[in-house]
Amino acid sequence: MLKLKRERMATTTTNANALLVAIILALLMCSPRCIYSAERRLLVNMTLIRNAPALGAFCLDGSLPAYHLHRGFGAGARNWLLQFEGGGWCNDIESCLERAKSRRGSTRYMTKWEVFSGILSNNASLNPDFYNWNRVKLRYCDGASFAGDAVFKNGTSLLYFRGQKIWEAIILDLLPKGLGQARKALLSGCSAGGLASFLHCNNFTKYLPSNASVKCLSDAGFFLDERDITSNHTMRYFIKDVVSLQGVEKNLDENCTASSLDFPELCFFPQYALKFITTPFFILNSAYDVYQFHHILVPSSADPHGHWNRCKLNPAACNPEQLNTLQEFRRDMIVAMGLFYKYSRRGGLFINSCFAHCQSESQDTWFSADSPRVHDKTIAEAVGDWYFSRRITKEIDCPYPCDTTCHNLIP
Ligand SMILES: *[C@@H]1O[C@H](CO)[C@@H](O)[C@H](O)[C@H]1NC(C)=O
Ligand SMILES: *[C@@H]1O[C@H](CO)[C@@H](O)[C@H](O)[C@H]1NC(C)=O
Ligand SMILES: *[C@@H]1O[C@H](CO)[C@@H](O)[C@H](O)[C@H]1NC(C)=O
Ligand SMILES: *[C@@H]1O[C@H](CO)[C@@H](O)[C@H](O)[C@H]1NC(C)=O
Ligand SMILES: *[C@@H]1O[C@H](CO)[C@@H](O)[C@H](O)[C@H]1NC(C)=O
Ligand SMILES: *[C@@H]1O[C@H](CO)[C@@H](O)[C@H](O)[C@H]1NC(C)=O
Ligand SMILES: *[C@@H]1O[C@H](CO)[C@@H](O)[C@H](O)[C@H]1NC(C)=O
Repeated sequence: MLKLKRERMATTTTNANALLVAIILALLMCSPRCIYSAERRLLVNMTLIRNAPALGAFCLDGSLPAYHLHRGFGAGARNWLLQFEGGGWCNDIESCLERAKSRRGSTRYMTKWEVFSGILSNNASLNPDFYNWNRVKLRYCDGASFAGDAVFKNGTSLLYFRGQKIWEAIILDLLPKGLGQARKALLSGCSAGGLASFLHCNNFTKYLPSNASVKCLSDAGFFLDERDITSNHTMRYFIKDVVSLQGVEKNLDENCTASSLDFPELCFFPQYALKFITTPFFILNSAYDVYQFHHILVPSSADPHGHWNRCKLNPAACNPEQLNTLQEFRRDMIVAMGLFYKYSRRGGLFINSCFAHCQSESQDTWFSADSPRVHDKTIAEAVGDWYFSRRITKEIDCPYPCDTTCHNLIP
């Protein structure tokens, strides 16, 4: 946009009126986004958990786990929002060793200051219901949605699979900082962090005062146990590897694993774990979640000739057969949520039809003049209405391409 403005300016230097028109045009063309980016961003400091080693909590590489806390104020001073960071998983020693050398597996390589926007913003006009809460971003450095408990050691290599311990260390660190006296609390997260929100929701509730209002939210964490386009269970095998490599099984919901004894690792999938969650839950997801489209439905192993490459990058380039496959995926997701949709009295849903993955952390999808809507409601409004019991919020969008409010965010 700046470039465009400069080009326009270069051709109109002699005409002040034309120059003014050009500037107004440039501003109009990029309206909400430019205005937001012109604002001062909220950057929040990292806190390393000093007593984590005593609890056996380490990132993959042995570094200290961390979170970023921005204090609440006013009426929100005793309310807490915890947001799990996302970032995929690692399922074998090689990929976990690689990860341990990156920001996904070590606080050594992470940015020490995090941007708090969307649901983490402290500005009432950008985040109307949670802006004055204590807001915490839990950094992800274990590679198994904060749920593993194992160590790999062979003389030359050492890897800590200690996600479950990291979760406990963070909670124990926050309890004396005010979380232990919370009046309201929301456990949230996006992607692998949205999955962590399913896995830890019941446990979170047990740490908080029994008279506190505790709820959980998953953004883009409803990963489906779905076959790929060649009918291979690519995702199921992948998750099975993550669960066994990282010692996750013992940390999954006992009642769920007891009920699926033949395949206890399936309880890592929200569609099986959901009915054992007793805390009120909100599922925010796109029915065409880009990560799931690219890694569960059409992983590159299932499309070696790249027939799907254009469609993956642009839904308008999908042929009718591909669109049909995507519509089936959407239907399967809605079916997997069917009982929750029908019978969960305190649950909420926002399943839109945008090609996106994670919509609560960025301002332009969470709450802005042109952010995605279902039945004219933004995601921030839907989540707030549900959290504060203002009205029942179970929104399922019409199928692609009907929704004109989408921000299709394809990586
Ligand atoms: C960042 O946080 C640490 C505590 O984790 C604190 O000691 C330090 O003073 C903070 N730095 C700034 C600039 O706020
Ligand atoms: C909050 O956001 C609004 C809308 O974008 C903006 O006008 C205002 O300056 C922001 N306030 C602060 C304190 O950043
Ligand atoms: C330990 O495991 C790593 C990764 O698999 C491998 O490269 C290395 O050779 C192993 N070391 C020994 C002593 O087996
Ligand atoms: C919960 O109970 C404690 C102790 O009685 C009280 O201080 C607190 O205000 C109560 N919280 C709520 C949300 O009612
Ligand atoms: C939460 O889960 C951990 C690991 O399973 C367990 O040790 C802990 O006791 C649980 N916390 C509560 C309050 O139940
Ligand atoms: C199915 O997927 C798994 C995991 O990616 C792979 O090992 C296996 O070879 C695949 N099978 C077929 C028939 O493509
Ligand atoms: C399993 O179910 C029983 C009976 O409903 C319940 O008391 C118990 O807390 C559940 N366990 C877990 C880990 O949720």
